Amino acid sequence: MFNKIKSKLKSRIDNQVSAQVASQLAPTFPNLNANVIELNNFQELKKVFGWKGDPILDRPDIDDFDYIEDVNERRKRDSESIATVMQNAQAKVALEIGTANGMGTVLMAANAPKTKIYTINIEPEEALTGAGGKLITVAMQKEEIGIEFRKRKLTNVEQIYANTATWEPNIGMIDVAFIDGSHDSEFVYNDTKKVLSAMEPGDFILWHDFNLELAPKYNWIGSVCAGVERLCAEGYVKGRIFHIRDSWVGIYRVGQ
Ligand SMILES: C[S@@+](CC[C@H](N)C(=O)[O-])C[C@H]1O[C@@H](n2cnc3c(N)ncnc32)[C@H](O)[C@@H]1O
Repeated sequence: MFNKIKSKLKSRIDNQVSAQVASQLAPTFPNLNANVIELNNFQELKKVFGWKGDPILDRPDIDDFDYIEDVNERRKRDSESIATVMQNAQAKVALEIGTANGMGTVLMAANAPKTKIYTINIEPEEALTGAGGKLITVAMQKEEIGIEFRKRKLTNVEQIYANTATWEPNIGMIDVAFIDGSHDSEFVYNDTKKVLSAMEPGDFILWHDFNLELAPKYNWIGSVCAGVERLCAEGYVKGRIFHIRDSWVGIYRVGQ
C-alpha cells in the first residue's frame, strides 16, 4: 500500500516538478541579490550576531548524500546553519514545518533542549491529493514521520499532523521557525506569512532549499527562492538574509 502511495507521489512529483518550475522560476531575484549576505562558515554567523555557542551536529544523516548535489558537505553546512541558530537564539518556542523522518527535529532539539519544539507535517494521504503543494521532495508512511525523534524519546518535541495550507498557528508566539515543507513558492510565501504573524522583531526564520547560486539549476530551490523574493518585494521580509556558503539554508532575523 505504502509503496503504491510512494510511487504515485513520486511520479506526481517528477512530472509536476519538471513541467512547472521552469516556467515559475524568475531568472533573477533583485531583492535577494541585494539582501543575501554570503558567509564562509558558522563562525561568521556567530560573529554577526555576537553569539558564543558552537553548534552540536547531532544529525544521523549528516554525512549521507542521496543526490550528487549533496556530496559537497551541504548537509553539514545546513546542520551548522540550523544548529547555530537553535544553540544561540534562546527560543522558548520553535517550529519546524516539514518533519519528514524527524532528523531535523533531532538536530534542533539537541541544540535547544529547553525549547519547546513543534514539528508539523501533512498526512501522506492528503499530500497525494496535491492539496499540500506540488514540490514535495520527501514522501513517507505516516508511522515514519518523526520516527527519529520518537526513537530518542525527546520530551520537548510535539508532533502535529496538518497541511500548512489550512493550519493556522495556534502554538503561541514562535521564536524560531524552520520552514521546510512544500517547496512551491506559494507555500513558502504563505508559510512564512503565517509564522511572521506569531513572531516579533529579533526572532528567526530559516528557509530550507534556499541557495541563490543553485536556484537556476534545481527547480525546487528556484521555487523556494522565488517565494522569499516575493516576501522581500512585498515588504514582509526586510533587510538581510544570511547564507553559509554551500548550505541550502537562508537565515533571517525578523526586522522592525
Ligand atoms: C524536505 S522534508 C522535511 C525535512 C526535515 N525538515 C529535515 O530537516 O529532515 C519536507 C516534509 O514536508 C512535508 N510537507 C510537504 N508539504 C507540506 C504541507 N503543505 N504541510 C505540511 N507538511 C508538508 C512533506 O511531507 C515532507 O515530509
